Amino acid sequence: MNVYDSERMADLLKPLGFIITELPEDADMVILNTCHIREKASEKVYSELGRIREYKEAKRLKDQNMVIAVAGCTAQAEGEEILRRAKYVDVIVGPQSYYRLPQILAEIERKTVVGEGPGRGILEIDFPVESKFDFLPESAEPQSVSAFLSIQEGCDKFCHFCVVPYTRGAEYSRPVETIYEEACRLVEKGVQEITLLGQNVNAYHGTFSDREGWTLGRLIQYLSKIQALKRIRYVTSHPADVNEEQINAHRDIEKLMPYLHLPIQSGSDRILKLMNRKHTASYYLDVIGKLRSARPDIAFSSDFIVGYPGETDKDFEDTLELVAKVNFASAFSFKYSPRPGTPASVLDDQVPEEVKTERLARLQSLLFEQQTAFNQSFIGKSISVLFEKQGRHPGQLMGRSPYLQSVYVEAAPRLIGQCVNILVTHASQNSLTGTVITQEKIAI
Ligand code: 5AD
Ligand code: SF4
Repeated sequence: MNVYDSERMADLLKPLGFIITELPEDADMVILNTCHIREKASEKVYSELGRIREYKEAKRLKDQNMVIAVAGCTAQAEGEEILRRAKYVDVIVGPQSYYRLPQILAEIERKTVVGEGPGRGILEIDFPVESKFDFLPESAEPQSVSAFLSIQEGCDKFCHFCVVPYTRGAEYSRPVETIYEEACRLVEKGVQEITLLGQNVNAYHGTFSDREGWTLGRLIQYLSKIQALKRIRYVTSHPADVNEEQINAHRDIEKLMPYLHLPIQSGSDRILKLMNRKHTASYYLDVIGKLRSARPDIAFSSDFIVGYPGETDKDFEDTLELVAKVNFASAFSFKYSPRPGTPASVLDDQVPEEVKTERLARLQSLLFEQQTAFNQSFIGKSISVLFEKQGRHPGQLMGRSPYLQSVYVEAAPRLIGQCVNILVTHASQNSLTGTVITQEKIAI
């Protein structure tokens, strides 16, 4: 979602004459779009700011200015603190207030013209009553044939480890019409694959002609009618929000990719309850079973947290057991990271770091084994690949399979933007390699 927001910020600033540069040292403005989900992500902010400060200083010596803005969830959560610790920061905007950047820049410009000097940075982190989506301009040239489209934001679930409900705010679903228009515009500009985004994307409950009741499944069905749109994905779903229309969408809609990111966090019911996850492990397995019945070739990925406060060896074994039962195509796993302001951060029974390290290594070894086996199961088979860009080596292209696997193929650059059938020849933990096959040779 930060990628989507970063692109929107670039779109907002374009009418003011800004263009994106790869060289931050020359930039008139640098926006650091930050993540607050785990401590590691947040820590990066100050080291990055230190680096950007040097660029600003170098420009100042040449009598030039650089506006530094910090956006994203760390800005939302720690904006005051950032302004206190890094006095050279000019602007703080949150994930719901960044649409005000043009006005903020005008204000900075005005101050400079009247000679008010830099003063204190501008803090813009209130959750506005209006939706930022009503103020975002039409998206400029998409960066790739695969684009993100935010349809839902925020979260009302309040898992006890998570900062998102505090930084992104309350759950909100965009109206169907605006999503459809944005999708059409993207497709007109050459986009072939759209990933619908939301922190709780399957809690989507948007309106159509002011009438409520549109679910994610219904929205996907509607978007699938856009002819030149080849592939649809969505992320991230919450197990407790999985509903019949979502499952049926996987059964009925060819364009919907047979791949679902469905975080479970832990395989222990005791821990899931402590986490306030609102589902059990057996409920999760039940959902997986229903999706597999609806779409037998569907594959799953998930998120896991190890070392949640109070997690015992037995709880952790339950997680390994669940992983063994599901057989994931891919997964993200993290050590629990205490986040300020969340209920779990103040619990007494924090798990020692070395236990977290050991559990993460064991879990990842199992998950990586499953991921490698999943990838290897494609060797000798044909899969459709949407080529996105040049690969790592000259003459090579990189594309994505329906399962989001990176696929590297020797192929002509004119194939970028096309869905091509590929014969998979090699597979590793993280990618596939293959060759282009002609229509006549497709066996599977
Ligand atoms: N510590 C570790 N991982 C976390 N996540 C969210 N909050 C924390 C935390 N405090 C993970 C969850 C979530 C993913 C986006 O990040 O697994 O699904
Ligand atoms: Fe965070 Fe997801 Fe839980 Fe919401 S549902 S609080 S975003 S982990």
